[in-house]
Amino acid sequence: MVIKAVIPAAGMGTRFLPVTKSMPKEMLPIVDKPVIQFIVEEAARAGITDVLMITGRNKRALEDHFDRLPCLEEALEKKGETLRLAEVTRSSGLANIHYIRQGDPLGLGHAILLSRRHVGNEPFAVLLGDDLIDEEECLLEDLITVQKETGGSVVALMEVEPEQIGAYGCAAVRPVSGRDYVRITDLVEKPTAFEAPSNLAVIGRYVLSPAIFEVLETTAPGRGGEVQLTDALRTLTQTPEAGGGVFGVVYRGRRFDTGDKLNYIKAVVSLALERGDLGSELRKWLQENIDSSRPVPARAKHL
Ligand code: G1P
Repeated sequence: MVIKAVIPAAGMGTRFLPVTKSMPKEMLPIVDKPVIQFIVEEAARAGITDVLMITGRNKRALEDHFDRLPCLEEALEKKGETLRLAEVTRSSGLANIHYIRQGDPLGLGHAILLSRRHVGNEPFAVLLGDDLIDEEECLLEDLITVQKETGGSVVALMEVEPEQIGAYGCAAVRPVSGRDYVRITDLVEKPTAFEAPSNLAVIGRYVLSPAIFEVLETTAPGRGGEVQLTDALRTLTQTPEAGGGVFGVVYRGRRFDTGDKLNYIKAVVSLALERGDLGSELRKWLQENIDSSRPVPARAKHL
């Protein structure tokens, strides 16, 4: 059974500077809930009870967010604000959350290797904080099911436009007879359009065999000089006898890459439109303002 998840959250959030100068990018709000809470809620829905966050400098707000805050809870209780109280205590009851620090930014593979002692010899989930998966979908549950059936490692894949593949790990796959998952035969981290073996991108959800740790121990730094999880998984595709092989589940639902500014704004607007307290007013405002809004000035101000 997969009960542990690792959430790498040590990245510096340079794409969101200056706001990330003093706050972790994982705390960026989707209206009033930080991105990281969506990720932990997704893990909890899939039956995960133990979360290990790999954090770093400047990430204290993450620990505070998932901790109790007795003085606030008491104040809300006294005022009879039961709904707000429920929202405030919710984040601290989602899972047992542990933290370790990645002192040096040596890459995703290195971050995962740091979880070895905590995870032990069981398959475990990895959720990357930039990817928001639709709450109506069961992607992580599906990965867990396939891991159980195959005994290998399982990666979530998504079809992307050829010009986007260079931002992702990319998988070569072949069908598995009678199954709705595929076998991954090769993986390349952030290939050029020419090198890419397919248009199937690795999105930030994995359920990994503990065999990955042994491989990560000897995985040399790859793209960007960082130890890449994709490279270690590639090794497992070539040595199925050691780790049970690598499989992919192709996700066709809605996903937002909140690490990208435009996609982050799309996530905020889309999810706000679906809320009972905001949706209809926001829709009305957008409809009234979308055409009348001022055109982008010729010398648009941007960083
Ligand atoms: C990481 C992985 C990459 C994967 C991506 C998904 O890259 O290295 O293989 O496709 O997450 O979001 P990053 O976006 O951290 O550069």
